[in-house]
Amino acid sequence: MLNGPPAQNALAELELSGLHDSLASPVSESMNFLNEIAHRFPDAISLAAGRPFEGFFDLDDVHRYFDTYRRHLTTRLGGDQDAVRRTLLQYGRTKGIIHELIAEHLRVDEGITADPQALVVTVGCQEALFLTLRALRRSDRDAVLAVTPSYVGVHGAASLVDMPVLPVRESSEGIDLDDLVAQLARARAAGLNPRACYVIPDFANPSGIRLSLDVRRRLLRIAAEQDILLLEDNPYGLFGDPAAAGPPTIKSLDDAARVVYLGSFAKTGLPGARVGYVLADQLVPGTDGPLADQLAKIKSMLTVNTSPIAQAVIGGKLLAHGCSLRAANTREIEHYRSNLERVLAGLEARFGDTPGVS
Ligand SMILES: Cc1ncc(COP(=O)(O)O)c(C=O)c1O
Repeated sequence: MLNGPPAQNALAELELSGLHDSLASPVSESMNFLNEIAHRFPDAISLAAGRPFEGFFDLDDVHRYFDTYRRHLTTRLGGDQDAVRRTLLQYGRTKGIIHELIAEHLRVDEGITADPQALVVTVGCQEALFLTLRALRRSDRDAVLAVTPSYVGVHGAASLVDMPVLPVRESSEGIDLDDLVAQLARARAAGLNPRACYVIPDFANPSGIRLSLDVRRRLLRIAAEQDILLLEDNPYGLFGDPAAAGPPTIKSLDDAARVVYLGSFAKTGLPGARVGYVLADQLVPGTDGPLADQLAKIKSMLTVNTSPIAQAVIGGKLLAHGCSLRAANTREIEHYRSNLERVLAGLEARFGDTPGVS
């Protein structure tokens, strides 16, 4: 105990227990921890984080893609250089400037018909997750469900908005749908209001499982019956075997706006650009626009808008490849598939006969 008033230059102290609850959770440390480890040991092969392979990173791409987008914008704006400068360098549209290119990418690569006005370009998928959960969390009763274990980012975003994440059992199919229904009933019996189920249908983090077409259809049916949304997070879907058509995105099967689709350009574009998006085409009665407009209100008070310079780089990459990120990532797909084959062969050689290892 200090006797008398504190010295003039004593630093103020804040108890951790006096700050937001999320800060005391180990989840809040995990993203920093993974980044720190990768920084300290850049040559280590980490299977913990979804960090893209750096061998294809090229600083010249940034300039090339930026210029590609700048030329596109100049044409679109009828050559008005003041408007081009303003669009790229000034505060801008909260929902973003590359929404039409993203809608085209979703059509070309994912079979999703997206109204560009229902898109919000975000600071990575992480911001998209935060905006969505923030909007859905109205009271202490609101909750989100997710397969356990699930990507740490969803736990982190949910804890920032004081929303519990209710666990759903994983199965060999990716998600145990009977358990999902049981968890929904249990949550309601406990007075909770489940709003959504978060899913990573393609190469889930961490399980790597891909949901079958049948499971996707059943998920949509359950979402409709139970009146919840599906939050489809799909950063890895484009890295599937190019020779075999994978199952369609859940969003492309969704004709009732049950799915909020979360996108990231971290793996398919440039991770350092920090650009992602959310497609939120749900109706909000009494307003003129889709849920995306409500998410944009939240964004306007969080990051204001996603850097147009960063969006231009991603926009340029889209333009350079006919808006197909599958086409833009042929080298990456080949590299990751060859790594996968080596890992699987190595695991098979060492653990193939070990009971209990699958
Ligand atoms: C499931 C999942 N979603 C999203 C992301 C990336 O999001 P962001 O665009 O914020 O980098 C990752 C990265 O590891 C991920 O594994």
